[in-house]
Parts: sequence; C-alpha cells; structure tokens
Amino acid sequence: MKLDNIIYETKGKKIYRDGDKVIKVFDESFSKAAVLNEALNQARVEEIGEIKMPKIHEVTVVDGKWAIVSDYIEGKTMAQLMEENPDNIDEIIDKFVDIQIDILSKRSPLLTDLRDKMQKKISSSKLDATIRYELHNRVNGMKKHNKVCHGDFVPSNVIITPVGDAYVLDWAHVTQGNGAADAARTYLMLTLEGKEDIAKKYLDVYCKKTDTAKQLVQYWMPIVAASQSVKGIPEEQELLMSWATIADYQ
Ligand SMILES: Nc1ncnc2c1ncn2[C@@H]1O[C@H](COP(=O)(O)OP(=O)(O)OP(=O)(O)O)[C@@H](O)[C@H]1O
Ligand SMILES: [Mg+2]
Repeated sequence: MKLDNIIYETKGKKIYRDGDKVIKVFDESFSKAAVLNEALNQARVEEIGEIKMPKIHEVTVVDGKWAIVSDYIEGKTMAQLMEENPDNIDEIIDKFVDIQIDILSKRSPLLTDLRDKMQKKISSSKLDATIRYELHNRVNGMKKHNKVCHGDFVPSNVIITPVGDAYVLDWAHVTQGNGAADAARTYLMLTLEGKEDIAKKYLDVYCKKTDTAKQLVQYWMPIVAASQSVKGIPEEQELLMSWATIADYQ
C-alpha cells in the first residue's frame, strides 16, 4: 500500500490514492470503535446492493493508524461541479436531490434509528437543560421512519463519473429515519459552508419533489443544529446555538 499520493486532508483524516484504491487514514483522535463503525455503516449500505458507492476492501492499520481501503472513484464531486458551472446550478441541484431521494427509498433494518442518535447528541450537547428537554420532546414526538438517511448528504460527498454515474461517499453518519431530518441536515451543512443561496434552492427542490411541507424540515432544524454543535467547531457555534434555540421554549 503506497501512501505518497494524498488527495484530501482534513482534521484528523488523510485520504491517499493508490491506483484504483483510496486509503482513508484516521489519526489518534478517532477511536478504533469510530473507524470500525464507519466501515460497518458503509458495509451495511453496500449490502443493500442498489446504491453506487465505493466498495470497502480492507480495514487495516498503517503506521499505527486505523485506515479504510476502498475503491477510487474517478470524476468530480458535485461541489466542484457547482463551483465550475454556476450557470447550471439548478440542474445540478435537481440531480443532487434525485440522488438523495433514491437513497431515501432504500431500507436497511440494522442501521441505527436516527431518533436514537439525535437523543444521544442532544444529551451530550452543551445546550442548557431547558432547551435539551424541549429538543428531546421534539424527537420523541416523531414516529419511527425507516428510510436510509445518509446523514451527511452534501455536494462534496457525491462524485459524478465521466459517464455521468453518481457515486455517494462518506457513510459514517448513516441511520434510518425520517427524510425530512436528512434534508434538514443537508440544509444546515450548506448554510454552515456559507452557501445560503444553494441551501434555499435545495430546500425548495427537495420539498417540491418529495411533496414535503417545509415546516416538517424546519421542525428538525433545531435538532440537527444541536447534534452538529457536539462537534465543537468554534466558528459554527454561534449559528448552531441560534438554530437550536429558535423555537419559543418560554
Ligand atoms: N473513494 C473515493 N474516490 C475518489 N475520491 C474520494 C474517495 N473518497 C474520498 N474522496 C475525496 O476525498 C474527499 C473527502 O472524502 P470523505 O468525504 O470520505 O471524507 P470526510 O470524512 O467527509 O472528510 P470531511 O469531514 O472533510 O467531509 C471527497 O470529497 C473526495 O473529493
Ligand atoms: Mg465528506
């Protein structure tokens, strides 16, 4: 395994290309359980057999660090395509939403329930007890849904190949639950990236195509904001706190 061609680097993670494979190497800030969980989630979705995604070949240790080896996917991410083709933004968003809807049409009964994940995140957030109480109630008020929710469905996690196939990456956060929650998460992530215009267009298209009331997606916004706040990224906290407390809890 050659680690001389780095293609992506972010906090705690490096991604290398070696021929037709990529090696995602995690530093010590990621526990063994976190890495195995990412691989397990990806394997569960792979087993559905209907979603185009890089296949996992190995979970291993390189230089004392956990690593996941999977297929290299040739192409451009939808984030790149959006930047390079601002005139085609509507068409790209349309395709982006179609891919999310296709994922939401799948089922994988062993995945974590999205509501359980959100409850844990709310509990470990730094929000005050009154707000946590309201957010827990909000989640409890939602009935069980079993749609495959990617959990980080953003344009940089979708690669379009030269022949136009869409491959979806980064299944670490996948759960089963309500599509509106997954849409709220996408809207939040686009907003945090400073892409408010794209976020708004995305939400319009998602709600139109799935015949979902925007209020339903908005209902999940404080919850997904509370969940994201747990990551503790300083520059995100102000926006996340305002979203998490947006409902009137008085
Ligand atoms: N299998 C792959 N084939 C080709 N490129 C890949 C592959 N996996 C990752 N990449 C490239 O690396 C980038 C980051 O990968 P990935 O989404 O798996 O990491 P990440 O954990 O999401 O990092 P971040 O936390 O910044 O989102 C992708 O946007 C893509 O450009
Ligand atoms: Mg990613």
